[in-house]
Amino acid sequence: MQLKPIGVIRSALKERSKAPKQGSEGAPDAWLEVHPSAAKGLDGVAAGDEIILLTWFHKAHREVLKVHPRSDPKHRLMGVFATRSPDRPNPIGLHEVTVRSVEKNRLRVGPIEAIDGTPVVDIKPVLCGFMPSGKTVRSRSKGSNRRA
Ligand SMILES: C[S@@+](CC[C@H](N)C(=O)[O-])C[C@H]1O[C@@H](n2cnc3c(N)ncnc32)[C@H](O)[C@@H]1O
Repeated sequence: MQLKPIGVIRSALKERSKAPKQGSEGAPDAWLEVHPSAAKGLDGVAAGDEIILLTWFHKAHREVLKVHPRSDPKHRLMGVFATRSPDRPNPIGLHEVTVRSVEKNRLRVGPIEAIDGTPVVDIKPVLCGFMPSGKTVRSRSKGSNRRA
């Protein structure tokens, strides 16, 4: 199995310890610089889109299998697969963000808690389903979860 990064996060957040646990907890916007080799894949991505970024937490501790959720010792030790800990055998981060703007091969996205230099391995639209035409339905309102 081989993963090729398609881009990198450029953020004002420089240290893990200073980053919020989730984007929605006060994280800033950041740039996603898509590598020239993957830039064609951005065709169709536009400002206002909600997308999921899959990142590779390059500063993670991959030997970790148990953590206190949210790094809070008051919570009992739990298996990493029951948590969103960045420390895990395959440190993949999941980030639902809004595209603020698109400038050639750069996307302004946010809010996102990944630190500066975090590799990005994929971008996918947030979906509730597909229209038969192939047009994406992005509404998350109840009852709109149509799958063709
Ligand atoms: C709790 S994780 C949640 C990540 C993602 N939203 C998820 O649910 O998969 C977010 C934490 O990962 C850490 N982090 C951010 N970028 C990282 C990186 N490149 N390597 C390792 N840890 C990172 C920060 O400490 C941040 O608070």
